[in-house]
Amino acid sequence: MNDSKALASRRRFLKTAAGGAAAAAGVLHAPFIIAQPAKIKVGLMLPYTGTYAALGTAITNAFKLYIAEKGGKLAGRELEYVVLDDESDPAKGVDNASRIVNRDKVDVLVGTVHSGVQAGMVKVSRESGVLSIIPNAGFGAATGALCAPNIFRTSFSNWQTIHALGKVMMEKGHKTCAWITHKYAAGQEMFEGFKEGYEKVGGRIVKDLWLPFPNVEFQALLTEIAAAKPSATACFFAGGGAVKFVKDYDAAGLKKNIPLYGNGFLTDGTLQAQGASAQGILTTLHYADSLNVPKDREFRLNYAKAYKLQPDVYAVQGYDAAQLLDIGLKAVKGDMKNTKGMIKAMEGVTIDSPRGKWKMSKAHNPIQDSYLRQVVGEQNKFVGVAWKALEDPARGCKMG
Ligand code: PHB
Repeated sequence: MNDSKALASRRRFLKTAAGGAAAAAGVLHAPFIIAQPAKIKVGLMLPYTGTYAALGTAITNAFKLYIAEKGGKLAGRELEYVVLDDESDPAKGVDNASRIVNRDKVDVLVGTVHSGVQAGMVKVSRESGVLSIIPNAGFGAATGALCAPNIFRTSFSNWQTIHALGKVMMEKGHKTCAWITHKYAAGQEMFEGFKEGYEKVGGRIVKDLWLPFPNVEFQALLTEIAAAKPSATACFFAGGGAVKFVKDYDAAGLKKNIPLYGNGFLTDGTLQAQGASAQGILTTLHYADSLNVPKDREFRLNYAKAYKLQPDVYAVQGYDAAQLLDIGLKAVKGDMKNTKGMIKAMEGVTIDSPRGKWKMSKAHNPIQDSYLRQVVGEQNKFVGVAWKALEDPARGCKMG
C-alpha cells in the first residue's frame, strides 16, 4: 500500500472507530501508528478483603469471563479496569466512589456487594450521572426511592430475596420463628421483607436478634434462640459470616429441633467450608445449582474451566452485569459517551442469564423467579419455584 492509500484507509477507519475524533488528533500526524479506539474504563468497586471478599472475587471473575468469551472486547472496544477494594466499609463508600468516578474518570461504575457501601455509591452515581451497574448489593432505595436513569441492577433487591421465605416456612408448619442477622442496611431490609411475607401468611416472629457487622461471636445469641423455643430460625448471613453461623448453629445443637432457614446467601459459595453443618438447609434465592437451563450449563462449564471453581449466585450476577453492559454498548456502536442511547437499550431488556431469563423492571431491577433450594452435598439443589416472576415493589421510585 502506498502512503496516500494507507492514509486514506486509516482515515476511513478513524471515521468509523468509536471515539474517532480524539484518536485522530493524536494519530494523523503519526501515520505509521495504527489507530485504536480508546479503551473503555470499567471501575470495579467491590470487596476483596473481609467477610465479603469471596463475593467480590466471584463477581469480578465472572465479569471478566464474559469479556474473555467476547475476545476481550465489547462493541469493538477493549476494556481496562480500575479496581478498588471497598472493604465493605460504608464509612468510606462516598470517598471511594468519588475517587473512582471523578479522579479516575471511569466510563462505567460496577459495584458493589454491601448495601451500606452502595448507599454512598448511589449518591455519587446520582450526582455525577455515571452509568452504574450494581452486581449484588440489595439496597432497596437504589431501585426504589433513589432510583435513577443511570443506575441499573443485575442482582436483586433485599426484599426480593426473602419475600417468599415466610410462605415456604409456613408450608413446612413453622408458625413461629426467631430472626437473626447482622445489624446494617441489608440486615434491616431483609428483616422487614421477611416480616412482611411471614406475617401475611400468619407467621409470628417471637424474637429478633442482631449483631454488629461483621462480628461473628454468635454464642450468646444462640443461647437466646434456644431459650425462646421458636419452631424455626430465619436469618440473613453471607460470605464468611454465613460459614461461621451455620457451623456454630449446628455445633450448639440447635439444627435438629429448630430448623434453620434463610435467603440463599446462607449457603451460596459457602458449602465446602460449611460441610455437614449445612446439609438439608432450605433457602430461597434467584439461583440454584441444578437448574435445567442451557445457558447455565454452558456458564458453569466455562467458569469451572477458567477458575477451577464452581460458580455461585455472585458469579451469575457479575456475568449478567457484563452482559448488560455489552447490550448497551452494542446499541451505541461502542460510543460510551452516548449514555442516553445506552440507557435506552438497557431499559426493558431481557437477559439470557444462567439463572434463567429475566426482564429489567421499570425501576432497573431484575424481575425474576425465586427458587426453593435444599443443600445436598456441596450443591444447593433446585427444589421448586417459590415465587414466579417476583418483582420488587420499587417503593418511592418515580421513574418509568
Ligand atoms: C447487601 O449488603 O446488600 C448484601 C450483602 C451480601 C449478600 C446479599 C446482600 O449476599
